[in-house]
Amino acid sequence: MKNDNRLPNGWDNCTLIERQDLANDLAVLRVKPDRELFGFRAGQYAVIGLPASAPRFEHSEPDDDEAPTASKLIRRAYSIASSSKTNEYVELYVTLVRSGELTPRLWLLRTGDRLWLSPSAKGHFTMDDLPQDKNVVLIGTGTGLAPYISMIREHHRCNSGRTFVVVHGARHVRELGYRDELEVLDRDCGTLVYVPTVSRPEPEEGWRGHVGRVQSVFADGTIDAALDGSMSPSATHAFVSGNPEMVEDIQRLLLGQGYTLHNARLPGTLHVERYW
Ligand SMILES: Cc1cc2nc3c(=O)[nH]c(=O)nc-3n(C[C@H](O)[C@H](O)[C@H](O)COP(=O)(O)OP(=O)(O)OC[C@H]3O[C@@H](n4cnc5c(N)ncnc54)[C@H](O)[C@@H]3O)c2cc1C
Ligand SMILES: NC(=O)c1ccc[n+]([C@@H]2O[C@H](COP(=O)([O-])OP(=O)(O)OC[C@H]3O[C@@H](n4cnc5c(N)ncnc54)[C@H](OP(=O)(O)O)[C@@H]3O)[C@@H](O)[C@H]2O)c1
Repeated sequence: MKNDNRLPNGWDNCTLIERQDLANDLAVLRVKPDRELFGFRAGQYAVIGLPASAPRFEHSEPDDDEAPTASKLIRRAYSIASSSKTNEYVELYVTLVRSGELTPRLWLLRTGDRLWLSPSAKGHFTMDDLPQDKNVVLIGTGTGLAPYISMIREHHRCNSGRTFVVVHGARHVRELGYRDELEVLDRDCGTLVYVPTVSRPEPEEGWRGHVGRVQSVFADGTIDAALDGSMSPSATHAFVSGNPEMVEDIQRLLLGQGYTLHNARLPGTLHVERYW
């Protein structure tokens, strides 16, 4: 999603209205456009941008040799975490990539600061074509959780016949964003099962949940048990989002179990979104 478009006049068209830092390198940002927010579907992404002339966060690496020229707008895609029914702003769940182009600039923004937001949302990583009676397994690493938060806020119902299983892999416990919201749903609803798994827990974090990568909760039967043994393509749609190596790995596993890749032309039971 790299883009080197020239900076247009009046390039800034939205305001950062809220910023919540969850950990050193992890934040939830709310961005409100000057005009009416575009319509979107849960699971789609927006693009935000800042000029290359914007300063970089001091604890990031310098731009590389091919640094964008100052008159360009650096733009990147971000899955929308808010529900489309919240039609004033988009909520984004963002990690700082210290060697990156946009996020070190994004990290200096404070509430009230200006940036660029695309005029529309895009993407086919949605629940639109899903039959209402299918369970969903939502698998994400890091900020790959973001589209699921939108899907859950929009499509999940406590009293429906379908179950949502949310598998979130993070390095550290503090990087389990949206944990409180998901734990409440898991506790209060029979139709949402939250399966966080931490790959590098630290002793002081006192973690007593799953340890390892997301693959481990497939291997140990946790997901199948959450669905009462019905994790099969006839009863379930699977979504996979985030780290592309993880996506490849889970895709291979699920294709081997009879899942079929979903795309815009051909509906399937396996939906994937690679972040890089
Ligand atoms: C459809 C789509 C949706 C996306 N949604 C999100 C999102 O909700 N939240 C988010 O933080 N990013 C998301 N991304 C990634 C985002 O677009 C940027 O690539 C990311 O913020 C890094 O931008 P940058 O300019 O700082 O780094 P770049 O200069 O673009 O460096 C890219 C490198 O950073 C690393 N990287 C990129 N994204 C991530 C990430 N999320 N977690 C860990 N490492 C990463 C990879 O090594 C990648 O090669 C999404 C990407 C796509 C294509
Ligand atoms: N979070 C940190 O402490 C930290 C530290 C240094 C740099 N960074 C940088 O910060 C950015 C964001 O990091 P992040 O932790 O949000 O994202 P990430 O690197 O994608 O890691 C998120 C989770 O995905 C797991 N994972 C990585 N590759 C996988 C694979 N092939 N299959 C299954 N799971 C996999 C990681 O496990 P593993 O732990 O086993 O890799 C971790 O649990 C990256 O640019 C990263 O390099 C982060």
